Amino acid sequence: MLIRSQDTDCLSPSASEITPRAVWQQRRQLLRLAALAGGASLAPWAGASQTGDRPGKLTALPGSPSTLPGALAMEPLTPHADVTGYNNFYEFGTDKSDPARHAHRMKTRPWTLRIEGLVGKPRSFGIEELLKLGAMEERIYRLRCVEGWSMVIPWVGYSLAGLLRQVEPLGSAKYVEFTTLSDPAIMPGLRAGVLDWPYVEGLRLDEAMHPLTLLAFGLYGEVLPNQNGAPLRLVVPWKYGFKSAKSIVRIRLVEQQPRTSWSLAAPREYGFYSNVNPEVPHPRWSQSSERRLGESGGLFAKRRPTLPFNGYAAQVAQLYAGMDLQRHY
Ligand code: MTE
Repeated sequence: MLIRSQDTDCLSPSASEITPRAVWQQRRQLLRLAALAGGASLAPWAGASQTGDRPGKLTALPGSPSTLPGALAMEPLTPHADVTGYNNFYEFGTDKSDPARHAHRMKTRPWTLRIEGLVGKPRSFGIEELLKLGAMEERIYRLRCVEGWSMVIPWVGYSLAGLLRQVEPLGSAKYVEFTTLSDPAIMPGLRAGVLDWPYVEGLRLDEAMHPLTLLAFGLYGEVLPNQNGAPLRLVVPWKYGFKSAKSIVRIRLVEQQPRTSWSLAAPREYGFYSNVNPEVPHPRWSQSSERRLGESGGLFAKRRPTLPFNGYAAQVAQLYAGMDLQRHY
């Protein structure tokens, strides 16, 4: 996001067209039927390919459609090819196509998530346990990148709150810090010095406990492709995409506001809160409108107005009551 050449990258037209909802729903139904007919366990990873460059290659991970208010954006889905081929995962490179090219090197099993800090029961969770811990839901969220593009993605996962309750946050815990995998042997981007690694993000505890905050394990009815942050990532739909940390290895509950990678790298550009706000421009990109990836017309497609809190104001605006959101950007 700091890199100039990215400006033009993120404005380049996308080849594919929108996946019609009917096609996607039919495909999801087929996945479910195939899993049932084969008596296949829905346990992810068994035999999963790591490429994820087209639907149907990874292990099925269906979820029940969410009943949470705001969790199902009624807009055309962004094509799978764009969701999995146009990524920000700087550990694998800064070009949008780098993550899809390099992330297959990341081994996502076994995987351990450590939860510690100001909690009554600090402990580590293996990925299999995490997959069974909450009821998997499908949530269709808008993801709005600070670079000015957005996607509509059918994620699969459950609320982060369910996991945090397992470790019993203490009264002194005010913030949650997320640290993601940093492995120079497989991540060429770590040599580039774009950020101080590992990638660290943070939320206020009440934001982390908000039901819309998703711990995602899949998308489009399958386990997450590596480039999208396998085996588990955050999705915080009312914030700019960089708050949604990928491939998380540690969660720490703390008293002080965590020092996050992007706000350390460019504090004037990336605040801690980073709520989507059309009225607070980024120094290099207006935030008043956005281009939906995958829509026909490419550069000439009509830009959509960006909505306060990315369209989730009814659900989350009260978290910021009385705060000056120009100052706390
Ligand atoms: N997480 C890690 N570990 N590394 C990253 O570079 N990029 C962020 C976020 N999470 C990033 C990350 C940014 S800038 C965005 S916009 C989203 O991931 C992109 O998610 P997507 O590639 O699945 O669309």
